[in-house]
Amino acid sequence: MIDIHHHLLWDQDDGSTSLDLSVEMARMAAEDGITHIACTPHSNGYYMYEPEPIDNKIAELQRLLEQEKIPITLGRGCDFHTSYDNIQQAHITPRRYSLNGGGYLLVEIPDHALPTTLNEVFYQMQLDGLVPILTHPERNLTLQKDMSRVKDWLRSGVLIQVTAGSVTGRMGRTAQRIAHELLAKNWVHFLATDAHNTSSRPPKMREAMNVVAERYSPDYAHLLCVSNPLAAFTDKPMAPQPEMLDLYEEDAPKSWWQRLTGR
Ligand SMILES: [Fe+2]
Repeated sequence: MIDIHHHLLWDQDDGSTSLDLSVEMARMAAEDGITHIACTPHSNGYYMYEPEPIDNKIAELQRLLEQEKIPITLGRGCDFHTSYDNIQQAHITPRRYSLNGGGYLLVEIPDHALPTTLNEVFYQMQLDGLVPILTHPERNLTLQKDMSRVKDWLRSGVLIQVTAGSVTGRMGRTAQRIAHELLAKNWVHFLATDAHNTSSRPPKMREAMNVVAERYSPDYAHLLCVSNPLAAFTDKPMAPQPEMLDLYEEDAPKSWWQRLTGR
């Protein structure tokens, strides 16, 4: 399996807190069956994202993993937040934040007050040669109440990454329910761990892959955990995807009860 979203680097953000912990996280990932990890630190108002020192850390950790005989190939990406500064910088140097400097970019949007301009942000990224991968919409508090904007973004070519822990229920019942609504419609392109440590946010996705294989199909599980993330990691085109269901039908108007409960 290939993990394209992982806060593996130590003292870089709210992920790993030491080099030893980074090694342990990588070991745990390898034992779970993960072979490639994109180290994707946050880039937001709290955490600076500078490719060069990040690359140096990745090289240091890769050397250590080889010494420890932990069979993981590391790469670099970014947990890219849609701040004004990030958006401007990504327009000037589109591949600064992308997965291994290729064409795929993880994009995290705010939990509240989703700006209407996000549509244009995604469109501009595409004009700049990037394929945006929206991270864990099933955990977004606004989208949990209304997935219509995700539908718009999917129609325009944005891809979706769901957190492995959402599929298994680790991220709460609402995230789990929505993860499965997305999976049932073939609206998901990637599973990833979004790991931060070895306990509460562990670097594991085998269990989630098995759930997808059993509940949907082994082919879909393989696509989400192996082929699609490998394509993103190596900057290759993705294989043909299963047809996304209910994507071009108009939404039925919500009942008064759905409007009241936000469901
Ligand atoms: Fe993340």
